[in-house]
Amino acid sequence: MVKDKILVIGSSGQIGVELTLALRKIYGNNNVIASDLREENELLKGTGPYVSIDVMNKEMLHVQIIRQNITQIYLLAAILSATGEKIQG
Ligand SMILES: NC(=O)c1ccc[n+]([C@@H]2O[C@H](COP(=O)([O-])OP(=O)(O)OC[C@H]3O[C@@H](n4cnc5c(N)ncnc54)[C@H](O)[C@@H]3O)[C@@H](O)[C@H]2O)c1
Repeated sequence: MVKDKILVIGSSGQIGVELTLALRKIYGNNNVIASDLREENELLKGTGPYVSIDVMNKEMLHVQIIRQNITQIYLLAAILSATGEKIQG
């Protein structure tokens, strides 16, 4: 049986924190890897592994998926409207 290994991308955000904590309860802390462009959220510190990932960087993402034997990905990376509009100018 293949053991699930989960990567949460955008784990430092509003939904990412809650989802990561909930998944860690189900799958075990070490089987849920938190990742984000931002630094690790304070609420996740000490609860399981964290890696820094920019989802726009295909090679970086690929390396982490292979290295960590990822079987599931939750993609929450987003730039929500207010911030996105600021970036657009
Ligand atoms: N918050 C809500 O009520 C809600 C409701 C419905 C759907 N959603 C959707 O859920 C997703 C997450 O929402 P949220 O409220 O947690 O947003 P959020 O802004 O709090 O979190 C998004 C996270 O994505 C990260 N991120 C941005 N660009 C990235 C990149 N290139 N690589 C890696 N990480 C990156 C940010 O650093 C941030 O931590 C979004 O797609 C949003 O549209 C949110």
